[in-house]
Amino acid sequence: MCGIVGYIGDKDAFPILIKGLRRLEYRGYDSAGVALINSSGNLNVYKSKGKVDDLVAFCADKNTTGTVGIAHTRWATHGEPSSVNAHPHYSQSKNLAIIHNGIIENYASLRKKLMEKGITFRSDTDTEVLVQLIEYIQQRKNLDLLTAVQLALHEVIGAYAIALLDKRTPNQIIAARKQSPLVVGIGDNEFFLGSDASPIVEYTDKVVYLEDGNIAVIRKGEDLKVVNIQNRLQNPEIQTVDINLGEIEKGGYPHFMLKEIFEQPECLTNCMRGRVNVDTDNVVLSAVIDYKKQLLNANRFIIIACGTSWHAGLIGKQILESLCRIPVEVEYASEFRYRNPVITSKDVVIAISQSGETADTLAAIKLAKENGAFIYGICNAIGSSIPRSTDTGSYIHVGPEIGVASTKAFTGQVTVLSMLALALAKEKGTISNEAYLSIVKELHAIPQKMEEVLKLNDRIADLSRIFTYARNFLYLGRGYNYPVALEGALKLKEISYIHAEGYPAAEMKHGPIALIDSDMPVVVIATHNAMYEKVLNNIQEIKARKGKVIAIVTEGDNTISRIADEVIELPDTIECLEPLLSTIPLQLLAYHIAVCKGKNVDQPRNLAKSVTVE
Ligand code: AGP
Ligand code: GLU
Repeated sequence: MCGIVGYIGDKDAFPILIKGLRRLEYRGYDSAGVALINSSGNLNVYKSKGKVDDLVAFCADKNTTGTVGIAHTRWATHGEPSSVNAHPHYSQSKNLAIIHNGIIENYASLRKKLMEKGITFRSDTDTEVLVQLIEYIQQRKNLDLLTAVQLALHEVIGAYAIALLDKRTPNQIIAARKQSPLVVGIGDNEFFLGSDASPIVEYTDKVVYLEDGNIAVIRKGEDLKVVNIQNRLQNPEIQTVDINLGEIEKGGYPHFMLKEIFEQPECLTNCMRGRVNVDTDNVVLSAVIDYKKQLLNANRFIIIACGTSWHAGLIGKQILESLCRIPVEVEYASEFRYRNPVITSKDVVIAISQSGETADTLAAIKLAKENGAFIYGICNAIGSSIPRSTDTGSYIHVGPEIGVASTKAFTGQVTVLSMLALALAKEKGTISNEAYLSIVKELHAIPQKMEEVLKLNDRIADLSRIFTYARNFLYLGRGYNYPVALEGALKLKEISYIHAEGYPAAEMKHGPIALIDSDMPVVVIATHNAMYEKVLNNIQEIKARKGKVIAIVTEGDNTISRIADEVIELPDTIECLEPLLSTIPLQLLAYHIAVCKGKNVDQPRNLAKSVTVE
């Protein structure tokens, strides 16, 4: 998820590495570090929790000389943010140093095997397991670093972009990638490494984007050599980078929000990695394994959250009650903390938070703990305050979310809630094997279906131009799509400053229908599920009053297309997973309307990414 930088040449590496890390700061991170080989052949590793500035301050009195080095900004996945868990990681002998972006899924079994061989570990990270494995293989067979890396990567399951130094071969960097990006910059008798081209472009415009399974052997004074893990020589394409820094930071997207909307398929794949196993059609959450008794014996679940996370909680309520038959209440954390709620030791409180720092949610957790409840966290930021104050939990692993308006975190939260409901329902026996298997298979297929929905982007951009005039919007949905209506309304409010309200579609008759006129756009989520006929009636009620209807339907629906003003078709899916698809057009609609209105999409007025005060 985070940042890799490398340099080898005739210049002082440290300033180049630090500048490169600053180029990658936009990606969000929790700690940083560098490894340098100096002219005496010493391999020095310096690292610290916090920002690049903290690393620079830490290095102020250190020997940071050397013309070859690697550097890293970490977004923790295994092992909380700390200086010990920051990268680079030494091997046991301190001959090797590694930096890594990604997740080693089978790190636990590899770590156990290495510990049985007498190897000791300094950190809690999956990354350290990899450098220890490489050294173990290198020493046992007296191999060069490249061969040891190739053999080690055969044993690794997961996603990685790595760079390694070996102090015994000081004029070399070995780099490899699988699913996490890595770029080699080719300069004049010097090379650069970067997670993207942003740390590289000011020095050279010649780059090689490493392919999955590629290993780059970077040696000063030699041509770049690229092989695969079977040691077959590759012929990488040397490209000329012609995009500017601003674009690179957003991956070529105009805004972080749009980048994060489009990242959702990959993010959910990462969220399910190691948890949804399509070979065995099984869902495994470590928290459910470790705390089965507390979770299965709960009298009720109380979900506490704010904003978008609260909307995810409403979906969680429906899927947990439907699959597990456990009563679920969903509370705004800001209300829960002050209303002297009844809480008992038989309650499980599920705290949902992207940032893990929301003050109201933290306070609600504290109150629940004081009253004996068991606390389960669903967060994105590893090691943040909320995960540190819960009894257990599941990270959503969607990577740093930079845009203030939450998008990929929402679908990540809903995915974890779906996995939690499936895992608990299987344990409780409240779901048939057939239903369990069909939902697990469909959940695994969701990222691909999301890719289909994202192809609607241009269509929705065109559609958005029609509605930039609106002063008010209504969003309607039923069942699992009612919280999606709320979320769609919040997205529009947050970034376009147009007032919008979400309602259960059936509520129209109880007042809001008085608002309908020819100027009122109404977004209706009318996908093909048990409530379809009822939502169809609601649409007809709106059209009878000349309201403008934007209908989100299941592809092939030719009933609503005859009465709605605009129709957006989604792939079909299982009802309880519909929010993972129906949310995306609403995210795109809000985004494009806000762009049409010239708003600051990534930093909307009055809003903060994390509300750490009441
Ligand atoms: C969502 O788009 C908003 N930025 C906001 O409602 C956010 O969801 C809320 O502040 C909760 O934040 P958290 O998930 O980090 O706790
Ligand atoms: N999984 C590694 C860790 O938690 C790397 C995380 C990253 O990509 O920054 O340290």
